[in-house]
Amino acid sequence: MEIKIDNVGDQFLNADVKILTAFQKQQNTKTKAKPAKSESSVTVDHWADKSLKEEFVHLKSFSTYKAGKDETLSFSGPFGEYVIVVGLGDRANLKPEDLRETVAKIFKTVRGSKFSKVAFDVPGFNGLRDEVLTAKLIAEVALLTDYSFDKYKSKKTEAAKQTVFLSHTEKKNNQKLEKALQSVRNITSSINVTKDFINEAPNVLHSEEYAKRIEADVKKNLTGVKVKILNKAQIQKEKMGLLLSVNSGSAYEPRLVHLTYEPPRSNSKTKHIALVGKGITFDTGGYSLKPGASMAGMKTDMGGSATLYGAFRAAVLEKAPVKITCILAMTDNAVNSLATFPDSIITGRSGKTVEILNTDAEGRLILADALDYACDQNPDYLIDAATLTGACLVALGNQVCAILGNDQKWINEVLGAAQSQDEYMWQLPIIEEWRQDIKSKIADIKNIGTPMRAGTAVAAAFLEEFIKNDVKWAHLDVAGVVDGQGHLPYCSAHGASGLIVRSLTHLLVNAK
Ligand code: BES
Ligand code: MN
Ligand code: ZN
Repeated sequence: MEIKIDNVGDQFLNADVKILTAFQKQQNTKTKAKPAKSESSVTVDHWADKSLKEEFVHLKSFSTYKAGKDETLSFSGPFGEYVIVVGLGDRANLKPEDLRETVAKIFKTVRGSKFSKVAFDVPGFNGLRDEVLTAKLIAEVALLTDYSFDKYKSKKTEAAKQTVFLSHTEKKNNQKLEKALQSVRNITSSINVTKDFINEAPNVLHSEEYAKRIEADVKKNLTGVKVKILNKAQIQKEKMGLLLSVNSGSAYEPRLVHLTYEPPRSNSKTKHIALVGKGITFDTGGYSLKPGASMAGMKTDMGGSATLYGAFRAAVLEKAPVKITCILAMTDNAVNSLATFPDSIITGRSGKTVEILNTDAEGRLILADALDYACDQNPDYLIDAATLTGACLVALGNQVCAILGNDQKWINEVLGAAQSQDEYMWQLPIIEEWRQDIKSKIADIKNIGTPMRAGTAVAAAFLEEFIKNDVKWAHLDVAGVVDGQGHLPYCSAHGASGLIVRSLTHLLVNAK
């Protein structure tokens, strides 16, 4: 699928499928007069093609059409083309997320069909009254919805040779639209890279392979990014005892991927943001073994790292104005005779000793060493992302990303970015009692708190122990949102969602 801006609208004339919109007519708010009975309650005044409009309003089925949200009416146009009219309801109440959902649903009905030229009438979708923003939304949704993960299917879904045109007529927007489309390509391709990593099978995407693939992607698609990948010997040299303890039962070496990006005009005042991701390529639980039903699906336990890599990639392609350090800690959490026993006491990179009472609380262990290492890079701000706790799903369900941290202003900035992208994110507190809950009787701290009590926040309290150098820190628990977002029509019905990449990209690109 290819997507193009149709600047003068002539591709619209020639399209095989034309997608237009209709709104519900509003009653006159001053006189409170409803439209007369004989008059239609539907408005299509925004259609530039007057003859098409004539045809539409004279359709027999038009008389019962109400232009309710997602209510479609299709007919065959004057050139035999397929015309789809989709209702957007009340123009005044149209929100970006409504538009995303509507566009995704409509796009799915024509995606992969025999129609090769599909044109969206951008002004018609422009209930938001910003043509560039509207075109951006349509393009973003089309490119996200077009994603599929079928590399292991013998029968591939044939790649549709479709071109989607974003047709508009406001000449003054031409350049802005072309630029917007390029940035949509940068962001959606990065989201789709995140999804590919999360969907990949764990027997293929082990730590060594994961690091290799990230390096290959950087080399191929990003310029000006420094790549450093620490192998086991280098991780030992760094004294990352906690990462090594999680890795000790693995057939593969751990990896610590360290990427750095500096913006084109960087000076001493340039903000430095560090991203730290959990990359557990499979979580068996270790000796504290997960029961079978909870273990299946644990290939997504590297979702935090994949989310951050996607955001890093998009931010670099978009030439974000901040310095970004991206640290991804990779290993599986497996069992063999060398695997860590519960009751073990391990010293991490920071020097703190950790009593490991449950080997299934492994994400916080590898993050502890990665956070300590990241803080030594002297960032001003840090965000970590991890599929850290099942408790997050209990607290916030499958739809909401949890955020916790040590600096309310920074948390608010991240929350604001999520809000701007219509991605759900909600803050949980870290209270003193939960900090006490991880004090160990025989080591500095232990890796679990009281069972069934505020698990997401206790895990964050554990991570907080490893934040130093006054770094402003926000932790994202993405356990609920990295996959299974089939309720969102622009996410796949199954598998990785790519959510939160949009929010974090927005944050990085708009940071000042
Ligand atoms: N990777 C899991 C968290 C998880 C669970 C993510 C379900 C997605 C879906 C994490 O490593 C884990 O096992 N956490 C334990 C912590 C507990 C032992 C304190 C959990 O949540 O049960
Ligand atoms: Mn675990
Ligand atoms: Zn895990």
